Amino acid sequence: MCGIVGYIGHGSAAPVLLEGLRRLEYRGYDSAGIALVQRRRLKVHKAAGRVEELRRRVGDDAPGSVGIAHTRWATHGEVTDANAHPHTDTSGRFAVVHNGIVENSDQLRAKLIADGVQLVSDTDTEALVHLIAARAEETDTLEAAVRAVLSSVEGTYGLVVLDSKRPDELVVARNGSPIVLGVGEGETFVASDVAALVRHTQQVVYLEDGEIATVRADAFRTSGRAQTVELSEEDYELGDAEDFMRKEMAEQPEAVRRALRGRLDPRFATAHLGGIRLDPRELRNVRRVKFLGCGSAYYAGQVGANLVEELARIPADAEPASEFRYRSPVIDSDTLYVAISQSGETLDTLAAVQELNRKGGRVIGAVNVVGSAVARECGSGVFLHAGPEVSVASTKAFTNMTVSFAMLALLLGRVRDLSAAGGARLVEGLRALPDQIQAVLDTDAEVAEVARRYAKAEHMFFIGRVRGWPVAREGAQKLKEISYLHAEAYQAAELKHGPLALIDRDMPSVVIVPNDELLTKNISTIEQIKARGGPVIAVTNATLPPGLVDAELRIPSNSPELDPILLTIPTQLFAYHLASALGRDIDKPRNLAKSVTVE
Ligand code: AGP
Repeated sequence: MCGIVGYIGHGSAAPVLLEGLRRLEYRGYDSAGIALVQRRRLKVHKAAGRVEELRRRVGDDAPGSVGIAHTRWATHGEVTDANAHPHTDTSGRFAVVHNGIVENSDQLRAKLIADGVQLVSDTDTEALVHLIAARAEETDTLEAAVRAVLSSVEGTYGLVVLDSKRPDELVVARNGSPIVLGVGEGETFVASDVAALVRHTQQVVYLEDGEIATVRADAFRTSGRAQTVELSEEDYELGDAEDFMRKEMAEQPEAVRRALRGRLDPRFATAHLGGIRLDPRELRNVRRVKFLGCGSAYYAGQVGANLVEELARIPADAEPASEFRYRSPVIDSDTLYVAISQSGETLDTLAAVQELNRKGGRVIGAVNVVGSAVARECGSGVFLHAGPEVSVASTKAFTNMTVSFAMLALLLGRVRDLSAAGGARLVEGLRALPDQIQAVLDTDAEVAEVARRYAKAEHMFFIGRVRGWPVAREGAQKLKEISYLHAEAYQAAELKHGPLALIDRDMPSVVIVPNDELLTKNISTIEQIKARGGPVIAVTNATLPPGLVDAELRIPSNSPELDPILLTIPTQLFAYHLASALGRDIDKPRNLAKSVTVE
């Protein structure tokens, strides 16, 4: 969702800002805007729609060496030029871009209106700029004005403020919504996401929550130190791929290798996860594990919970972070909570972590983006090392979540009753995964053929049982979000308690059939579907009775506990090819954003 870019330096601000916005497009947005200082006056351009339209309006050679820009995903007010950021005060001297939500904006706006200020947008952000402009009359510095205003603001913000009469500085502030500074040679970059910076610099500083700072071309003071991000522009480029989802699916073997690197210990048949900062005694004292995440991250948590119960024999479950945060959860001191998020920005997941921290729960993160809000709020955890994920549909991050949870489960198991032989089997299984994932990716053409065959279906079931259940849920999720087909996941045994009524020849079922102790049960579920004329596509490593199913999407066998990681891959390819056959915009599905930073 919303994205921020800022620039101050010796160069031309407009190209940096527009290119930065283009880099943030993947997050999802519906309008964009830019404010530049030209001859100590603000020049503001806005466009509902794409960044490309904004670029046309700004032109290629707009002057000005300081500016701020924004992509907006509407929360308060419709998608219009007026509601797009930057917002300016009545005199047109100050401009503000803002990510997050001002929760008391109704009161702030009402007070401004009562004071005679004419508001021109429906946004919460506009209130901020008017208040800052009024305060700046009384304070020596812009930072002091921003600080004073933010003390009366409830909600979350990543904020950049520009005063056209002080073109040698920007004021930045963060509370719950990331702001990162990029350090250049005589120039400073500001963004809400490093994706907008890595073209210019790898030296970045993350603002802490609650921090406000004045940023100049060659100086700024923050509590955090500069760190090097190991990302470059190419990491955000498509290269030869048709789209990011395809690129990111193909990157999975390498992403898994990165996640495993230095974390497997064949000697003691266990895993090393130094980042979780729990010694063996503390690990032994964990009595329960609870995984929290949203969407695919939640389903990855379900895979994790199964792995923990199987390998460590302690109770484990997964819950949507969005439910957990609102239901006044009972926090148990013996439970290890795992907050899962690719972006590290999902507001519901962040709020769940904050609730846990407030109540003294023990929470670790499983996060892909270093320096993100969830990673910082957790303070310890497992980084996923999937590399940047641009496509809205999560693939490699999902896979690396499940691989990380397999290592966590192995570690928890090995401080309990999992034998060295059992641990060694898992270590070998994990090591085999990258090549096996590649083998599944190599079946792309066959999966594509099956997907095309079912592209005319209007509804589809995804059926799974125990290990296969979270795989079915993730498979249905992937298909829904990129193809817009109605896909519903169901537990295999539950089918006969109601949904079987929907089965007919127009209702295909994708059935997840691991080659495990429940194989015969899954075969009888398939028979029940077939008896009612329903087409069945099996995702499997088992040998099924000849003629039982209409299509098979095959995976190699690993340890049964790890097979769900492999079973997910064909469902990604299936969703991808089905969506392609329907001509969908794969990387930017309608109504969705990559980072969900609103409630
Ligand atoms: C995944 O394909 C979805 N786009 C979505 O469910 C996503 O997993 C969810 O919004 C959580 O995102 P996060 O991992 O960045 O927290």
